[in-house]
Amino acid sequence: MALRDRLTGRRPGNGNGSEAAAPPEPPNAESRLAPAVVPAHSSQMYVGQRGADAILSPVDQLKVDLHRRLIERLDLDALEQIKSEVELTAQIRHAVLDFLRGEVTPLSQREREEIVEQIVYEITGLGPIEPLFRDPTISDILVNGAREIYVERGGRLVRVNASFRNDAHLLAVIDRIVSRVGRRVDEASPMVDARLPDGSRVNAIIPPLALDGPILSIRRFKTDLRVHHLTRNGTLTDEMLQLLAACVHARLNIMISGGTGAGKTTLLNALSSFIPATERIITIEDAAELQMQQEHVVRLETRPPNAEGSGEVLARDLVKNALRMRPDRIVIGEVRSSEALDMLQAMNTGHEGSLTTVHANTPRDALSRLETMILMAGTNLPDRAMREQISSALDVIIQISRLADGTRRVTSIVEVMGMEGEIITTQEIYHFRRRGITPEGTVIGHFEPTGIRPRFAERLAVAGVELPVHMFGGAW
Ligand SMILES: Nc1ncnc2c1ncn2[C@@H]1O[C@H](COP(=O)(O)OP(=O)(O)OP(=O)(O)O)[C@@H](O)[C@H]1O
Ligand SMILES: [Mg+2]
Repeated sequence: MALRDRLTGRRPGNGNGSEAAAPPEPPNAESRLAPAVVPAHSSQMYVGQRGADAILSPVDQLKVDLHRRLIERLDLDALEQIKSEVELTAQIRHAVLDFLRGEVTPLSQREREEIVEQIVYEITGLGPIEPLFRDPTISDILVNGAREIYVERGGRLVRVNASFRNDAHLLAVIDRIVSRVGRRVDEASPMVDARLPDGSRVNAIIPPLALDGPILSIRRFKTDLRVHHLTRNGTLTDEMLQLLAACVHARLNIMISGGTGAGKTTLLNALSSFIPATERIITIEDAAELQMQQEHVVRLETRPPNAEGSGEVLARDLVKNALRMRPDRIVIGEVRSSEALDMLQAMNTGHEGSLTTVHANTPRDALSRLETMILMAGTNLPDRAMREQISSALDVIIQISRLADGTRRVTSIVEVMGMEGEIITTQEIYHFRRRGITPEGTVIGHFEPTGIRPRFAERLAVAGVELPVHMFGGAW
């Protein structure tokens, strides 16, 4: 940005060149979303609020200027049509070199390449966070306003040294992400959920709801964590997996419980690979993340209300509809609300072998979450009837947790047995016993069977699955 522009509080283009011909604006005219740079003393600038531009070195300044001028000059629509990234990069490199011919400040080869790369990212994707997005070791990208970006790597959150030029720039990228999926974000709808083509989930929330600038949360979804990865990285043992595979095969109703990002969906995906290929599977999700390996899969997705507040389709509606589609299995990405009732009813009326996940910290907690969800369906079932419904529908609860060292472990496998008085009875079959923590922060522990043979072992046998006798740790 030129110094004159900086003093008048103008910002660089928003990536589509639309600001190029705009007259100079007063400091706060751009948007309530992007606080302007406020001149403090005659020649000094200070960053008054988060999101404003910091002072740049001449080379950085040149990079920013060049970047903006290129974005303004290039025919972005035409470039977006170029599908080959190699070709796109070549064209942009050519344009950068062309521009630099008339420039006095020297740029190194590396700096030139950096600009080329940034523009490619600007056109094809997520701007400054694109490199983070391409880094397979990063699972979540959390942008708190233009200047603060955190990533989760190996289960730990760290701040990274990347930033957007300002809040308007961040907003432009958010807009690009959500408009591709037919959503929008503005003052009228300041919260939005969207999904990237690779299945990653995106949430954006902007001022006035977010107090410090636009907030973008990208939860990446690793598609390649297959069953064997989970046993290899210690999420569960081969034996536990063998048991769970048998439960899926024998059509037990299974619920995976865990906190945010604990690995519920990943485990659900992995377990679903044990559904026989001969079955018709119907999946129901808010944002498609499930990746069934089978051929015969029907995928359904809920729909939020449109800008006028109508047209919403709830998971509950989809569960009801799925029942009319002759499913062999219904897989619900996550139960959150009233659909829990329809799901349990389906499980109780012959649609066995369902798989789902729930956000809960313990198996017990998962059961009480289900009760709350049934209430959301507006029924006035007495507590006991509600619990009977739950206990007769569900067979197994798998608890998965993210431990303090970032690793994911199946911390408990629990059988839901029935009712005793007013209480749902359960018994634990496997658990992860924590023993301590090393000075480096690694959690020490091991998996062990509790010694209890589950009642459902009979059902597994009937389904033709013979498990080794020693599996449950007891002496039979
Ligand atoms: N067993 C695992 N081992 C290592 N990493 C995992 C494992 N499971 C999940 N992850 C990582 O954690 C991230 C979150 O996983 P996942 O989406 O399955 O969690 P979740 O519990 O479904 O989250 P949410 O609460 O958002 O639905 C994934 O991107 C993946 O990289
Ligand atoms: Mg999930």
